[in-house]
Amino acid sequence: MTAATVQLNTNNHVGQIDRRIFGGFLEHLGRAIYGGVYEPASPLADTFGNRLDVIGKLRELRMPIVRYPGGNFVSCYDWRDGIGPREKRPQRKDEAWKSIESNQFGADEFMRWAKLLGTEPMMAVNLGTRRAAEAVELLQYCNSNTGQWADERKKNGHADPYDVKLWCLGNEMDGPWQSGHCSDVEYSTRSCDASSQMKKIDPTIQTIVCGSSGPTMKTYLQWDRTVLENCWETADYISAHYYASNERNDTPWFLAEGVQIDRIIDDYAKLFEQVRQTKNSKKKIYLSFDEWNVWYRQRGGDGGWHEAPHLLEEVYNLEDALVCAQYLNAFIRRADVVKIACLAQIVNVIAPILTHRDGLLVQSIFHPIELMSKNASGVSLQTKIDSPTYKAGERGDVPAIDISATYNPETCDTSFFIVNRNPKSPATVTLRFDDRLFTKIAVAEGLGGQDPKIANSWESPNAVERFAVDAKIVDGNLEVPVKAPGFAALRVATTTR
Ligand code: AHR
Repeated sequence: MTAATVQLNTNNHVGQIDRRIFGGFLEHLGRAIYGGVYEPASPLADTFGNRLDVIGKLRELRMPIVRYPGGNFVSCYDWRDGIGPREKRPQRKDEAWKSIESNQFGADEFMRWAKLLGTEPMMAVNLGTRRAAEAVELLQYCNSNTGQWADERKKNGHADPYDVKLWCLGNEMDGPWQSGHCSDVEYSTRSCDASSQMKKIDPTIQTIVCGSSGPTMKTYLQWDRTVLENCWETADYISAHYYASNERNDTPWFLAEGVQIDRIIDDYAKLFEQVRQTKNSKKKIYLSFDEWNVWYRQRGGDGGWHEAPHLLEEVYNLEDALVCAQYLNAFIRRADVVKIACLAQIVNVIAPILTHRDGLLVQSIFHPIELMSKNASGVSLQTKIDSPTYKAGERGDVPAIDISATYNPETCDTSFFIVNRNPKSPATVTLRFDDRLFTKIAVAEGLGGQDPKIANSWESPNAVERFAVDAKIVDGNLEVPVKAPGFAALRVATTTR
């Protein structure tokens, strides 16, 4: 048995959590759009073709933002193909995923879908095969009241601007796989140009420049430094992408992926500080972790030039869910650095939901994301944790307990999200506040204690069990049992000590 203690104080926090860390990402890829969110032929679709069962399930994740339309797709996409009368829209070859794009779903359909879901659109522009001029036109189409592209939108039946606030300037531009891939200096020119021209059209928008595509890239951090140095004044965020992988099939090692996620955020936090100091600037740039998930089984990206091919349809198990919980824990802990994050992706393609024409399947990773998005609120508390370690393969000895904690000063509710990474030893975690007493447990739910490889399937849709956690308040402190391996989410009322 692992016994860990966590000491807390409501005065020790890193600031307000930005709810946009619970965002999602929807790309024209495989069956994410066609057969995922949009399927006019499904009995479950509304008159516009939006799958209402998918909307209903996604609403449970309370995603405040959804990034669209890519990903790699955006770097060879002409957004103008996706507007206007449907029968006139061209079919195109999508070079990114070697698929056929029908263009039946485009900017206007996405905006309608986002409104139905109750989320804010986060648009990406093509800086691979296109430049600032096309980005400005798309911005005009989305946000302006006057001008050629605003008129075009009105002609297409959308009188009011969409007022999109967040704009991603390209995607993974340091990746040789990316259409229009270029050097850090060239990308800085493209993105600064786009950002400043776009902000002239609409000064209320915020822009996200591409960081390196991940920590295994040779360009990692050096690319980011160059881009930040060049775009510091015009950009608001820089992106980070990371996909966890258990290709080596080493569960104790994989369950400590949180260590790697923390490291990435820390790398950026240090870099921001260095560049800010060199520039002697008061301005702050934050991290937009706009692609994150587990992804290693279904890596093939060749759609064989079919429409809506089955691509990247990863099946998620319990250990994947525990890694996803650690991503969100890391984002909450570093609320001072991470202001935006997008689960990549949301339906069918590396997603918490799989669909067929008549129904959907919820995957393991859905549960921690739903529990965390629903219960985290207020400020992110610093946690003074005393946890035994366990042997995490090549990573060596790693603390068994990974935790994030939030406190809402308006309701006096606290929330805790606890992962026991040790697959061999169940844990009891005791939480104590210096300045508060726990009074009533409102939420105590968890996952775990099963085979780490257990996964939901169409035949067995609830194989990964979600259960009530038997947490207790003892002398004003909170005791939480966590399975091996496992996850627990708690929301608990408090009063002054
Ligand atoms: O999310 C799948 C792909 O992963 C995205 O298109 C790309 O940005 C990343 O490499």
